[in-house]
Amino acid sequence: QRRHSIAVIPGDGIGPEVIEAGQRVLEALADRFDFALDWTTFDWSCERYAETGTMMPEDGIDQVRAHDAIYLGAVGWPSVPDHVSLWGLLIPLRRDLDLYANVRPVKLFEGVTCPLAGRTPDDIDFVVVRENVEGEYSKIGGRLYEGTEHEAANQVAMFTRHGTDRIMDIAFELAQTRRKHVTSATKSNGIVHTMPFWDERFEAAKTRHPGIDTAAYHIDILTAHFVLNPDRFDVVVASNLFGDILSDLGPAIAGSIGIAPSANLNPARTTPSMFEPVHGSALDIAGQGIANPAAAIWSGAMMLDHLGETAASDAVMSALAETFKHPETRTRDLGGTASTSEAVDAVLKAMG
Ligand code: NAD
Ligand code: IPM
Ligand code: MN
Repeated sequence: QRRHSIAVIPGDGIGPEVIEAGQRVLEALADRFDFALDWTTFDWSCERYAETGTMMPEDGIDQVRAHDAIYLGAVGWPSVPDHVSLWGLLIPLRRDLDLYANVRPVKLFEGVTCPLAGRTPDDIDFVVVRENVEGEYSKIGGRLYEGTEHEAANQVAMFTRHGTDRIMDIAFELAQTRRKHVTSATKSNGIVHTMPFWDERFEAAKTRHPGIDTAAYHIDILTAHFVLNPDRFDVVVASNLFGDILSDLGPAIAGSIGIAPSANLNPARTTPSMFEPVHGSALDIAGQGIANPAAAIWSGAMMLDHLGETAASDAVMSALAETFKHPETRTRDLGGTASTSEAVDAVLKAMG
C-alpha cells in the first residue's frame, strides 16, 4: 500500500476547523483509493506563542522536513502582532524549505454566483503563480532614528536572477499544460530598479519557452483587467507582493475567498511542499462552524496530486464542484445555508 506522511499545522482561528474538514475528506479518499495517510499534528499557533513565547520550536523546520507534504490551516490571531506570528511560522516554512513557487488557481464553478455581471465558468479559469520567497518580502531594512522626528522605516525588495528566472520557468511550464498563455504582472513604469529587471527576465523566459503567447500589464491596470476582462488570463506570473494581492482579487471575482487553494512548491522535491488555503484565520467567523471548507479541501486535492494520487484528486474535485450547485450544500459565503460539517458531508456523499 502507498503511504504518505503529512505534517499537519492547523494554526489559528478557522485554520483548525477547515483542516479537520479537509482531513475527513482526505481520509475517505485514502480508503477508497487504497493508500494511507500518516498524519503528524503540530500545535504551532498563536496559542502556543502565549504559552511558550514562540510560534514553533527552534528546530521546527527540521521536524517537518522528513514528511512528504505539509497541510496548513491559517496563522494569525489578535493576541500576537501579525508580523510576529507570520514571521515566526508561515514565512519561515516557505523560505527555509525553499517553497518558491506559490501556485494559486482561480476558477468560477457552476452554481457559484459571480459578482461580475454576465460571466460564466468559461470566462474565469486561471492560475496565479506567485514568487514566494524573495521580492518585496525581504528581511533587509529596518527602523531608523526611532523616537526622533526623523523616524523612518525601509525595506529592500530583492529580486535575484536565479529567483526570478525559476518562477518564470514554473509559470511557462504550467502554461504549456493549459491554454499556453502567460501574463506578467509588472510595474516597470514606476518601480525603477526591480521591475525593469523583472521585465528583462520575462523576455528571457519567453525565448526559453517558445510556443507560449504572452502579455504584460502594469499591476494597476492588471487589477482592472481581472475585473473587466478575466477571460484574458490563463497563467499570471507575479512577484511576492503583487501575487499576494492578485490571489485575493482572483477568488473574489470567482465568488469567495473561501474556495481558493494554494500550493507552496519546491519543484526540486528536496523538501516537503506545503498546501494551504489562500484565506487567513478569519477571526470574524472563527468558532462558529460556518467556515467554507472548500479552500482546504481543494488544497488537499492539490496535495494528493503532488503526491501522485491523481485519481483521488480528480474524484474530490468533481465531488466538490457538485456541492457548489445546491444552496443547501454551499456555505454562507457562497449564499448557501450549509455549516462546515454539512458541506463536508455533502462532499463525502457526492464522492459516493
Ligand atoms: P481572512 O482571509 O482571514 O478573512 C477575510 C474575510 O474573508 C473575512 O471576512 C472572513 O470571514 C472571510 N473568509 C476567509 N476565509 C473564509 C472561509 N473559509 N469561509 C468563509 N469566509 C471566509 O483575512 P484577514 O482578515 O486579512 O486576516 C485575518 C488573519 O489571518 C490575520 O492575522 C492575517 O495575518 C492572517 N492571514 C493568514 C494567512 C495564512 O496563514 N496563510 C493568510 C491570510 C491572512
Ligand atoms: C497569504 C497571506 C500571507 C502572505 C500573509 C499572512 C503573510 O496573505 O498567504 O496570501 O502575504 O503571503
Ligand atoms: Mn494573501
